[in-house]
Amino acid sequence: MSAPHVTYNSGNNEWFTPAPYIEAAVRVMGGIDLDPASNAVANEIVGAAQFFSIEDDGLSQPWNGRVWMNPPYSRSLFRPFCDKLCEEVAHGNVSEAIVLVNNNTETKAFQRMAKIASAICIPRGRVKFWHPEKKPATPLQGQAVLNFGENIRGFAAEFKAFGWCGKIQDRGTA
Ligand SMILES: C[S@@+](CC[C@H](N)C(=O)[O-])C[C@H]1O[C@@H](n2cnc3c(N)ncnc32)[C@H](O)[C@@H]1O
Repeated sequence: MSAPHVTYNSGNNEWFTPAPYIEAAVRVMGGIDLDPASNAVANEIVGAAQFFSIEDDGLSQPWNGRVWMNPPYSRSLFRPFCDKLCEEVAHGNVSEAIVLVNNNTETKAFQRMAKIASAICIPRGRVKFWHPEKKPATPLQGQAVLNFGENIRGFAAEFKAFGWCGKIQDRGTA
C-alpha cells in the first residue's frame, strides 16, 4: 500500500456539500448556473440551474457560466475535474467559480487551481459533508475553498464565517 494518504479518503464520491457553503457561494456569485459533478439529490441543496451526473459525464460536457464544484474525490476523477475547471476559466466559458476541495496543496491539481484563483478560504476544522443514507461525516483531512472570479471582497465577506480568507496577489495563467 504505497498510495499517499489523501487517496484513502473514503474513496466514496457521494458526499455532498452542506447548505451553508452553497448559500455563501450563491451570495457571492448571484446564482449557480452549473454544477459539473453532481446528482439530483445533491442538487436539491446546490440548486444549480444545470448539473451533470456520472451518467452525463461532466468531463465530456461543455461548462458555462457561474460554477459550483465539489469534485469527485477518487484519484482518477479529481485531477481531470480540476484541470477542466482551469481550462474552462482560461477560455472564458466559466465566468466565475467556487470550488471546494480537500486541502491537498501539494498536488498538481491544487497547484494549478491556486495559480489562477483570485482568493482562498481555509476553513477552521473540517467540513461536515452529508450523505443521503449516512450520518454527516468529516473527511480525514481539511478543506480549501478557491474562488475564481472578481468578487473577491464578496467572497471574503461570505466565507470568513468558515475560516481565514485571503486574496491571491500573484495570479498566473492556466
Ligand atoms: C463530492 S460529490 C459532490 C456533489 C455536489 N457537487 C455537491 O457539491 O454536493 C461528487 C459528485 O460527482 C458525481 N460524479 C462522479 N463522476 C462524475 C462524472 N464523470 N460526471 C459528473 N458527475 C460525476 C458523483 O456521483 C457525486 O455525486
